[in-house]
Amino acid sequence: MRKKLVVGNWKMHGSRASNAALLSGLREAGPWNADVAVCVPFPYITETALALTGQAMSFGAQDCSAHEQGAYTGEVSAAMLADVGCRYVIVGHSERRAFHHESDQLVADKAKAALAHGVTPIVCVGETRAEREAGQTEAVVKRQLAAVIHTLTHCIGEIVLAYEPVWAIGTGLTASPEEAQAVHAVLRMQLHAATQKSDAMRILYGGSVKPDNAVSLFGQPDIDGGLIGGAALKAADFSAICRAAG
Ligand code: 13P
Repeated sequence: MRKKLVVGNWKMHGSRASNAALLSGLREAGPWNADVAVCVPFPYITETALALTGQAMSFGAQDCSAHEQGAYTGEVSAAMLADVGCRYVIVGHSERRAFHHESDQLVADKAKAALAHGVTPIVCVGETRAEREAGQTEAVVKRQLAAVIHTLTHCIGEIVLAYEPVWAIGTGLTASPEEAQAVHAVLRMQLHAATQKSDAMRILYGGSVKPDNAVSLFGQPDIDGGLIGGAALKAADFSAICRAAG
């Protein structure tokens, strides 16, 4: 039985004051039966670490460099994330693929850099609305995952995978539990062909997860938790989603 994992992706939101209020709300609301983490903007990682000292909640970042170190102005390495205690790093979020032109291979290289430093990459895959309407959903997510499998080889079992249909992110449109499950099953099968650990791997769903749809999504056999955007910014909503995963 896989333990569920719920991860809040704060994206580019927050301030020291609002983060403190949010984390204090979560401290009061927890603990939950699921594993829970927040992925916060880089400048707030250390304060988040302090605020979560002694808590069951983990924290992480939203991106990392594929490079080890060097003259890469503006980049943050996986080693640095490990150094400040990050447990997770999101890589390949559709917003980075779209706005920063990240390729499947770059995403795979970032996942590899994270694993090399003991930080678990949460690798995002997902199709756009046009790709879904063209019947390409399976082909797109399989292509995105294949690059990661090829690059990580025997370490693929160490990642967390997240299926985030691009058309469902921040739109209020959610994949139905059945639609999401169908894609998760395809992804699990692909992982199964690559590693004996596939049954233990967690595949999260992301895209307009809210307290009122979380139970039905998390009830699907291959949905092992969620990657939460907007609803992760409100302590009451995020904690209700964490409860739904318990
Ligand atoms: P929303 O929950 O706001 O749709 O965002 C999902 C997401 O992109 C999480 O990474």
